Amino acid sequence: MISEKMQVELNEQVNKEFYSAYMYLAMSAYCNTIGLTGFAHWMRMQYEEESMHVTKMYDYILGQGGAVHLKAIEEPPQEYGTPMEIFKMTLEHEQFITRMIHKLMDLAIKEKDYATQTFLQWYVTEQVEEEANVNDILAPLKMVGDDKGGLMMIDQQLAKRVKPAPLPTKN
Ligand code: FEO
Repeated sequence: MISEKMQVELNEQVNKEFYSAYMYLAMSAYCNTIGLTGFAHWMRMQYEEESMHVTKMYDYILGQGGAVHLKAIEEPPQEYGTPMEIFKMTLEHEQFITRMIHKLMDLAIKEKDYATQTFLQWYVTEQVEEEANVNDILAPLKMVGDDKGGLMMIDQQLAKRVKPAPLPTKN
């Protein structure tokens, strides 16, 4: 069982995770348009990962006897600039999501909602990984700068990202 407030806040987070998926799909399309198919693939895999973040939270709300309220998803930008700008934006977005997850955890602790604390711990750990993955790409991007050969090498590396393993879902 979750409180009314927790239900509202988890539904808000479902919307933010949907936005994340939407934004990464838009980034994937953009990267394809500018000829960076490896970057596009990485973003497509990120879209799939975010979709799982959505359904995991959706299942939790339902499993706790709560009501899912799916809201309109904000339109993401269509243009993202250079590869460096794309990944800087990605890092800022993931840092924002981390802050949102921490706010949810603060609420679960305040409400002594132990089940939601345990549930959210998965997202806390996931966000550490998400930020680290982006930082691992930003580092070589900074190193190569505008060098086209270097960018193509990074593009080839990003093309190797494997599809995320599916999470168990209820339905
Ligand atoms: Fe679901 Fe990338 O945060």
